[in-house]
Amino acid sequence: MNPTTPPEKTAMTATIDAALASIPRERLPALLQRMPKAELHIHIEGSLEPELIFALAQRNGLSLPYTSVEALRAAYAFKDLQSFLDIYYAGASVLLTEEDFFDMAMAYFRRAAADHVVHAELFFDPQTHTDRGVPFATVIDGLTRAVDAAQRELGVSALLIMCFLRHLSEEAAFETLEQALPHRKKIIGVGLDSGEHGNPPEKFARVFARCKELGFRLVAHAGEEGPPAYIWSALDVLHVERIDHGVRCAGDPALVARLAAERMPLTVCPLSNVKLCVFKSMAEHNLASLLDAGLCATVNSDDPAYFGGYMNANFTEAFAALPQLTARHAHRLAANSFEASFAGAAQKLRWKTALDAAFAQA
Ligand code: HPA
Ligand code: ZN
Repeated sequence: MNPTTPPEKTAMTATIDAALASIPRERLPALLQRMPKAELHIHIEGSLEPELIFALAQRNGLSLPYTSVEALRAAYAFKDLQSFLDIYYAGASVLLTEEDFFDMAMAYFRRAAADHVVHAELFFDPQTHTDRGVPFATVIDGLTRAVDAAQRELGVSALLIMCFLRHLSEEAAFETLEQALPHRKKIIGVGLDSGEHGNPPEKFARVFARCKELGFRLVAHAGEEGPPAYIWSALDVLHVERIDHGVRCAGDPALVARLAAERMPLTVCPLSNVKLCVFKSMAEHNLASLLDAGLCATVNSDDPAYFGGYMNANFTEAFAALPQLTARHAHRLAANSFEASFAGAAQKLRWKTALDAAFAQA
């Protein structure tokens, strides 16, 4: 399928179509920055910059096993997902109070607003905190306060998605779900993250079935390091509405055909994939071929403090390394991000209109 032709009937005007065809590559970096977009794959604990880790450690009277911000940043050399997760969970251990969660999320929202992210769906990992004795309410109250402030002060809308850690047990996931229930209205959906190898989606089939009954929207990490079979089971066993990462679908043509036919969104994270060695370099990333196969791919930052960049760095570095990517792909990626979001239809239409306007003026 031609990636520039959305499968649904669209309101894209002839003006925008003509504008897309005539935008030269040199103008793309500015356009990628300016276009409105949604971020659908950001672990809020992965937005914790080394400077904030040190500031929170000091505020909370904790000592860190690194002598300086630079020494901590220098440790961010990962060979795979697990080598990253070890450092990421250690970094999150400085988060103790509601204020800490608020400050972390507000720092992210300010960076997101600067990148013209108008809507963000934030993952959070309650078990990383409750297992250290931090109450669930402390986590959710700090994050919810930041979500409200982001809308009020920055004009960024946001939703919260609670992730279960897949290296922990089904029983632990059910306990976390229990703790979340008094806060049900503050959480749009549930996800599944942490180490994929040896932790297939099937392990959480009953938890996800219960979450579906409770009305949560469902997503799961699958096909980041794990095989295409994990994407099949995220779809058929967990019944998710988006696949987080999903880049390894490319090894399975029947799966790619199904993802395209169902417009199943993939929340792709280019810098993450390179930093965690899913691809050897950005030039080898399959973002362009996923789009050209008709998939509803989106661009996201995953854990921006650890992987070297927020939304626009992900866009600009992917576009710089992949010469196949054009203005049409940029427009499609942003349109996909709104289509794939859990926002309401009227809001999606307003964002899409603003997106078309940004390209029509280009
Ligand atoms: N993959 C799985 N789990 C995670 C990630 C990721 O990229 N980031 C934070 N938790
Ligand atoms: Zn992720």
